[in-house]
Amino acid sequence: MDIARTPATPDGNFEMADAAVEPHAPATIRREDYAPFPWRVAATHLDFDLGLEKTLVEAKLTLERNPDAESSPTIRLNGDSLKLVELRCDGEPNDSYAMEGDDLILTLPGDAHELTIVTEIDPASNSQLMGLFASNGMLCTQCEAEGFRRITFFPDRPDVLSVYTVRMRAPKAQFPVLLANGNCTAQGEEGEYHWAEWHDPWPKPSYLFALVAGDLVARSDSFTTMSGRQVALNIFVREGDLERTGHAMESLKRAMAWDEETFGREYDLDIYNIVAVSDFNMGAMENKGLNVFNTKYVLADIDTATDGDFDAVEGVIAHEYFHNWSGNRVTCRDWFQLSLKEGFTVLRDQLFSQDMGSAPVKRIGDVRVLRSVQFPEDSGPLAHPIRPDSYQEISNFYTSTIYNKGAEVIRMMRTMAGEEAFRKGCDLYFERHDGEAATCEDFVKAIEDGTGLDLEQFRLWYSQAGTPKVTVALSHEGDTATLELAQEVPPTPGQPDKRPMPIPLKIALFDRASGTHRGEQLVVLDSASEKLTFEGFAAAPVLSVNRGFSAPVRIERDVAPADLTFLAARDDDPFARYEAMQDLVVGHLGDVVAGGLAAEEREAGREAIRTALAAVLADERIDDQMRGELMMLPGESYLMEQSLVADPGAIHAARETLKTWLGRELVEELVALHERASQAPGTLDAAAQGARKVKTLALTYLAAADPERASQMAAAEYDGATTMTDRQGALMVLASLDTAQRTAKLLDFYNRYRDNDLVIDKWFALQASSLHPQAIEHVKSLRNHGDFTLRNPNRARSLYMAFAGNPHAFHAASGEGYRLIADLILELDPVNSQTAARFVPALGRWRRIETGRAALMRGELERIAASSQLSRDTHEQVSRSLG
Ligand code: ARG
Ligand code: ZN
Repeated sequence: MDIARTPATPDGNFEMADAAVEPHAPATIRREDYAPFPWRVAATHLDFDLGLEKTLVEAKLTLERNPDAESSPTIRLNGDSLKLVELRCDGEPNDSYAMEGDDLILTLPGDAHELTIVTEIDPASNSQLMGLFASNGMLCTQCEAEGFRRITFFPDRPDVLSVYTVRMRAPKAQFPVLLANGNCTAQGEEGEYHWAEWHDPWPKPSYLFALVAGDLVARSDSFTTMSGRQVALNIFVREGDLERTGHAMESLKRAMAWDEETFGREYDLDIYNIVAVSDFNMGAMENKGLNVFNTKYVLADIDTATDGDFDAVEGVIAHEYFHNWSGNRVTCRDWFQLSLKEGFTVLRDQLFSQDMGSAPVKRIGDVRVLRSVQFPEDSGPLAHPIRPDSYQEISNFYTSTIYNKGAEVIRMMRTMAGEEAFRKGCDLYFERHDGEAATCEDFVKAIEDGTGLDLEQFRLWYSQAGTPKVTVALSHEGDTATLELAQEVPPTPGQPDKRPMPIPLKIALFDRASGTHRGEQLVVLDSASEKLTFEGFAAAPVLSVNRGFSAPVRIERDVAPADLTFLAARDDDPFARYEAMQDLVVGHLGDVVAGGLAAEEREAGREAIRTALAAVLADERIDDQMRGELMMLPGESYLMEQSLVADPGAIHAARETLKTWLGRELVEELVALHERASQAPGTLDAAAQGARKVKTLALTYLAAADPERASQMAAAEYDGATTMTDRQGALMVLASLDTAQRTAKLLDFYNRYRDNDLVIDKWFALQASSLHPQAIEHVKSLRNHGDFTLRNPNRARSLYMAFAGNPHAFHAASGEGYRLIADLILELDPVNSQTAARFVPALGRWRRIETGRAALMRGELERIAASSQLSRDTHEQVSRSLG
């Protein structure tokens, strides 16, 4: 692993500022140091002689000087763990190159050259899963962000666009399918070998390069684009998985049609290939014309995938497809602009999913993710703006901030502009920058020009980190209601002082008696504080604020529980209804944890929640999908976020106590709901899915209140299940109980699905995330289970991500949970540093945790930091977390 990088020459992409000061510290790359690359790569020819253990790559680069860049006598070609076999310049052998770290520096005298580079790589031993790697006997690539440099020496930066032609040669029996970007232009056989040539006419950066070779079968279909072109669609999987690709294919066709209708974007090649691979660091990758997917986001059928899995497949298939425009046709100038493609594409996939199913339920789910993952990130040591200023390892910046907050920021522009104007801005963006490597600034400018909005101050959303806090107070006098708003953007690492940002808040004022309002308004709070008055209110209205979660902020409202109960029951904005329910519970649990509550106050608090929940259970106007949202108690990670310093033990106890109490108080209603929902068919329509959702939620309340009874119900549900949703839901409830049924059903589940990796991942995850008092012991013994391996990221995450997200176990007062995660990081880091580094944030939140646990967390981070072998990925995350 190359930790130390030497300083760059002037033609390098970025100055590596720290390297001179601290020779062994990884260099810091800065956005302000961007300079265009001095060379253009007009064409790239790649010739692969493929083998699992040995692959030879011959790259021919057609170079010419970039007239828009400062001229340089040299060229820097990035490399990473490469073996150079041969280097020729204009046909002549060349050995006058120099190595700087893993990069190759070559002097080039003329204005145009052809370089031939032969490298040798060993895909089978590539456990990092970046570059060309082997998975289950097949070969495939992952190049974003900097994986291409593990294949050949190349200017591996997103602003160098080139037209690729790829030739692959491989043993025919072992690799009957050979794929690369673009269209297959020629193929042939040579004895036991065969070859194929693919050409991609669209210039692209190296991170979008892809190649796949393997024994695969395809589900094929086609799509006719809006201009009448036929596109062949293929989803390649391993033999036995073909029946489970139907949903992915339907999702793809829906996404293609939706992008035409909604954004006017048409597909631009004659073929679109998707390949599913079981060893993959991320969800999926949008390589031009050849998406590579984690199997988790392709394979789904009702017996092995939950309703949530079905939605995730649809969302990720759409996400990668939408990248063809937001990412590929218009790509990023440098990695600081990552949110340009990711934030925008997440917004696009969110809007798509909203249109495919229940829009409010999708919105609530997206906000839940934002608040449980991005908010903690934004208030911790790893906080960064959606357009960061510096990084050491770009893989660490594929974050919820870049993706999810990035989407929220663009969504705000859409809210302020209106849908139609926003579309004009997007059209302008695509038109202006098609074929270019663009910046976030280019995007904002296009939206500004296309919509007529003034986004001058709004740009602060790109540069300032931290979740703004908006304080809201409503007063009433005579017939005037006065709304006082104030904002505060908290300090974050490197950004002690913040400026006020424009915060678009959708509001409505409800008449208490009639339960109606006079229309929703959009208020943009763009100064530190503001006072708004509303006339004609004889009685004090009830305020509904940040409706639809119009801004990604934390709202602090001084509001009576009675008003929250009112909104929870009557708000016509589904998100606001959900929010009122959440606030009711958050407020109560906050009071309980803070202590000093008089008995009758506590009684009143939980009584308000009981009343609201009972109303939700009985409400006939809402569907079960929405009912499920309203039934969910706020998660512990979100609850911990509410206080400056949290006591995870106290929060967990308070939340469980409330759940138990509610389960007892509402036992009849919950049993009735469970019974009613159990009548629903095992189909995939929204009503049936909703029924399954509330059924399991009802069980979780009952499990807290009456474990024996719930255990019997869950066991029966498990046995009778005709869908994975029901079976997993029942098993989840059982996994948290200390009953005989638990052992029996866990064993049954394992035996039933032992041949299905994705389902066995669920089996690991259920046990690691259970409320069972011995969860830590379970994880320790599962670590030694014959099916566990650190080499498969899905499997490693199924056990340890689930565990790190299980507050009662991870935050065990003994510190054992922290030790377990630190041990994992140390063990996984040399195998797969990208995946290892993703576990660091769990420990990194120590400053926001009570002192006893904080010291233990910090201690584990220090233990990791003391290792001399750390990857750049893990080193960066650990040092920022301690810093
Ligand atoms: N661009 C991919 C997406 O659709 C993510 C790839 C990230 N890869 C990585 N090695 N960090 O979101
Ligand atoms: Zn993406």
